[in-house]
Amino acid sequence: MIVLGIETSCDETGVALYDSEAGLLGHALFSQVDIHAEYGGVVPEIASRDHVRKLLPLINQCLEKAGLERNDIDAVAYTAGPGLIGALLVGTATGRSIAMALGCPALAVHHMEGHLLAPMLEEHPPEVPFVALLVSGGHSMLVEVRRIGEYRILGETLDDSAGEAFDKTAKLLDLGYPGGPALARLAEHGDPERFSFPRPMTNRPGLDFSFSGLKTHTRNLWLKGEKDDKTRADIAAGFQQAVVDTLLIKCRRAMQQTRAGQLVIAGGVGANLVLRETLQRAGKKHGWKVSYPRLEFCTDNGAMIALAGCQRLLAGQHTGPGLQAFARWPLDQLPPIGAQRP
Ligand code: KG4
Ligand code: ZN
Repeated sequence: MIVLGIETSCDETGVALYDSEAGLLGHALFSQVDIHAEYGGVVPEIASRDHVRKLLPLINQCLEKAGLERNDIDAVAYTAGPGLIGALLVGTATGRSIAMALGCPALAVHHMEGHLLAPMLEEHPPEVPFVALLVSGGHSMLVEVRRIGEYRILGETLDDSAGEAFDKTAKLLDLGYPGGPALARLAEHGDPERFSFPRPMTNRPGLDFSFSGLKTHTRNLWLKGEKDDKTRADIAAGFQQAVVDTLLIKCRRAMQQTRAGQLVIAGGVGANLVLRETLQRAGKKHGWKVSYPRLEFCTDNGAMIALAGCQRLLAGQHTGPGLQAFARWPLDQLPPIGAQRP
C-alpha cells in the first residue's frame, strides 16, 4: 500500500510517500522559518496561507522524484491535530480532497503518534514494549508503549515544553527564532559549569516536567550579569545541560518504573546532540536500547505521518468524510490499532 503523508500542523509543510512493503519512497519539506523569523515566532495566519501555497506543488514534486503518478497513491494520511487549527485545516482539506478525487481511503493522524513512530523509519526500528521521550515545540511527555497504538502517558510538562523552553531562552539571549538549534550551537562553545542551574522537579517523585522556572532562572542570570559573548555561551551551555540532565533523570525513572528495555527519543528537541549522546551513554550503562530518528525526522516532516497513517490504514482504519481538525487531541485517546475508528 502506498500512502501519501501530509504534515501541516505548524510551520513546516511536509509530504512523503511511504510503501508498506518497500518503506519510504520519497519525502519533501518546506520550512517556513525564514517567513516567520522577522516576527520572532510563528504567526498562525501566515503559516496557514503558506501551507496553501506550498502543499500541492510539494506533493507533485515528491511524486515526480519518486517516479510515481497520482493514481499510484492507495491512501492519504494527514495530520489532523494537535497543532495550529488553521494550518491543520489546510492539510486536512487537501488530504481529504485528494482521497475523494482518487476514490481511496484517508486517515486523520495524530501528530505526536507520528513523532513517536518516526524511529521506525530507520534501519533498526525499535521493538515494543518501549518508553518514548517525546520532546517537541508543543509537547513534552514520557509515554509507555506496550503495543503500537496504545499509549499510556507516564508524565508530561506542567507548563512550557522542552522546545518552548529552548526557544524562549534563545529569544532572551537574542539568538532569534527558531531558537533551539541556535542555542545548541552556541552552547558548544560555553562552559556548562560556570553558573548553577536547577534540575526542576527531580527532587520529588513522579515523571512530570516543568521548564518555566529554568527559563526564569536564565532570565535573571542574563539580565543581572555581564552581557559579553562568553557569558552568553556559558548561560546557553548551563541551560542546555540542565534540560538534558532533567530529561535523563526522568527517563531513568520511567525505565525503572516500567521495566522496559528500550527507550525511544523523538520530537524536535530529539535533534539535540547533547541529549542524544547523554541518553545513548545512559543506555549503555543501564542496558537499555536507545533509538531515535535521523536528525531530519526528529523535527516535523511528512514521512512520520505517512508511516503512522500506514500502520492504522493497514489495520483497516480510516476517517469519515467530515473536515475535522483538532487543536488539542490527547494521545492516550487514540483507538488501539485493530479497532475501528468511530
Ligand atoms: O517537533 P517539532 O519540529 O515541532 C513541534 O511539533 O512542536 O519541534 C520543534 C522544536 C522547537 O522548539 C525547536 O527549537 C526544537 O524543537 N529544536 C531543538 C533542536 N532542534 C530543534 N531544541 C534543542 N536543540 C536542537 N538541536
Ligand atoms: Zn512536531
